Amino acid sequence: MTIPLHPRAEAHGKVIVLGEHAVVYGYPAVAAGLPQGIVLEASPRPDPRLPITLTIPAWDLDLELHAGSDHPVARACLEVLAHCDGPVTGWALHGASALPARAGLGSSAALTVALARLVFGPDASIDDVVAASLAGERVFHGEPSGLDSRVAAQGGVLRYVRGEPPRSIVPGAPLPLCIIPSGIPRSTADQVARCRSRLEHLPSVVRPVLIAIGQAVESGIHAIEHGDLDTLGVLFDVAHGLLGALDVSSPALDRMAADARAAGARGAKLTGAGCGGCLLALAGDAPDAAARLTAAFPTLRPLFVEVAAS
Ligand code: MEV
Repeated sequence: MTIPLHPRAEAHGKVIVLGEHAVVYGYPAVAAGLPQGIVLEASPRPDPRLPITLTIPAWDLDLELHAGSDHPVARACLEVLAHCDGPVTGWALHGASALPARAGLGSSAALTVALARLVFGPDASIDDVVAASLAGERVFHGEPSGLDSRVAAQGGVLRYVRGEPPRSIVPGAPLPLCIIPSGIPRSTADQVARCRSRLEHLPSVVRPVLIAIGQAVESGIHAIEHGDLDTLGVLFDVAHGLLGALDVSSPALDRMAADARAAGARGAKLTGAGCGGCLLALAGDAPDAAARLTAAFPTLRPLFVEVAAS
C-alpha cells in the first residue's frame, strides 16, 4: 500500500513585472500569477512498488523518479515528496501546461507547487506548499528568493520581499502585458551566479544598481495601483537597462526590447533570470496594439495577458 495522493492539483505560472535578481538580495519585487500554469493529475500504478512516473508532454518530460536519478526534475520532485512525507513509489503523474519550460515563466515552481498540493490536498496552507516547493526549487536554482514559489502557489499580483509576508497589489487599471518568448533557454542558477559575480567584483558600483531596481519596484507598484501605465512603461525600460548592468541581458533581448518599443509598447524589459527566456512588454492603448506587437515578432508567438483592475 503506497501513500495516497490527491487526484489533481494546479499551480500558476508567473511573470516578474519588476525586481528580478535584486529580489535575491532582499530588495522588493512585483510579480503576477499567470493562469497558464500546470495541472498535475495522479493515478495509481498497477503495482504500488513501481517507481513514480512523471509525464509532461508540453515540456518533453517522461521520467521515472528514481532515488539515483541525476535528472534535475526527478531530483527536485523527489525532494518535494520527501519534504511532504509523500510516496516514493506507486503513482503515475501526468502534467498539462501552456507555459514554455525554462523560459522564466515559473515552470519549475509551478511543477513543485502542484506536486506538493497532490500530497497535501487543496486545503493546504500557502506557506506549507511554498516551503515544500522550495525544497525542489533549491535543486534547480541553488538559493532561490522564493518569489516564484509564492506566486505559483498564490497567484494574483504580489509585492514580495524575501522572508516577509507578500502584499497583494490591486491594479488601478488593467495591465496589458505581452510576454514574448525569445526561444533561447537559460538557467536561472547560471544567471544568478553571473549577477553575483558582478556584485562581488564591483560592489560599490553594482550595489546601487540593485538598490535602483528596488526603487523601480516601489515606483512601479505606485504606478500599477494608480493605473499610471505610461510611468510603468518607463520603469520597464529603466529596469531593462539596470538588468543589463547586472550582466543578465543579451543582444537578442536588447533587440527584442527595441523592437517592442518600436511596435508601440509603452516599455519593455527582460523578465525572469535573463540571457534568454522572455521579454515582457507593456502594450500601448492603440486599438491595434496587440496586432502590432504580434507583427513585430512573427516567429515568436507573443502571449497576451491582461491583469484585471480592482
Ligand atoms: C527567477 O525567476 C527570478 C530571479 O530573481 C531568481 C530568484 O528570485 O530566485 C532571477
